Amino acid sequence: MAKIFTVLSGKGGVGKSTFCVNIALSLAEKGNKVLLIDGDIALRSLDLLLNLEENLVYDWSDIICNRCGKYAPILCYNDKIHLLPAPLEVPNILDVSSFKELVVSFASDYDFIFIDSPAGIGELQQVYALVSDQCIIVATPDNVSARSAYVSGNILVKSGIKEENLRLIINRFNEKAIKKGNFLNIDEIIDITYIRLLGIIPEEPNLMYSSVSRKRLSSRNDAKFAFNNVAGRILGKEIPLNL
Ligand SMILES: Nc1ncnc2c1ncn2[C@@H]1O[C@H](COP(=O)(O)OP(=O)(O)OP(=O)(O)O)[C@@H](O)[C@H]1O
Ligand SMILES: [Mg+2]
Repeated sequence: MAKIFTVLSGKGGVGKSTFCVNIALSLAEKGNKVLLIDGDIALRSLDLLLNLEENLVYDWSDIICNRCGKYAPILCYNDKIHLLPAPLEVPNILDVSSFKELVVSFASDYDFIFIDSPAGIGELQQVYALVSDQCIIVATPDNVSARSAYVSGNILVKSGIKEENLRLIINRFNEKAIKKGNFLNIDEIIDITYIRLLGIIPEEPNLMYSSVSRKRLSSRNDAKFAFNNVAGRILGKEIPLNL
């Protein structure tokens, strides 16, 4: 049965969709089957990041509204990574039970399911969070993003998510910029967000293009190394939380 994650953030543009694609690549390289569910209604992007947009016909709202069979919207990046694209409009029937039924119906087909959420913590994000085993909050190393991660974590806990099921990803970490005093360091981010750290992903301009172009980043690349470590932790391995 798949373990289900929702990837969220308070502030937008911090790297949720990039995280979803790259954690799927690392988990797939370790032999796992991953379903990515694009939860960013109207502003979907995973089809573009995986270069699958031309094959997109149906989306997950078509399953919920009985307009197509369960597997019709699924797009295959390869045999291990599949995508369930987001609708362009919020479907009429969308509550925790209808979305849970949809997600759980795929749980026996995959090892991991990641729901890529839009930024912010509103009703939609709470629906995604409530059907997930863990919520991964992504933040960049700046005050605005860190505080929004803290606020998001609090809202999720108030909506019924257990604090122990929240995890933090620090993305776009840049040691040189931190030394210059432009960004928060890791301890400062953890102190502000108050969320258990799952991993630190360094700044890497090629992350977005590697999935589109299908050119794998070398395992010696710092960002690829970091994603492989996060994948290892998700798989239950004890991997130290440094870069
Ligand atoms: N580790 C990284 N290093 C460098 N650039 C990154 C990194 N992570 C993400 N980016 C870039 O940041 C931008 C935003 O990333 P992305 O679309 O994944 O964010 P998002 O949180 O999903 O945004 P939204 O809130 O709009 O859904 C993209 O241009 C992406 O390539
Ligand atoms: Mg996104």
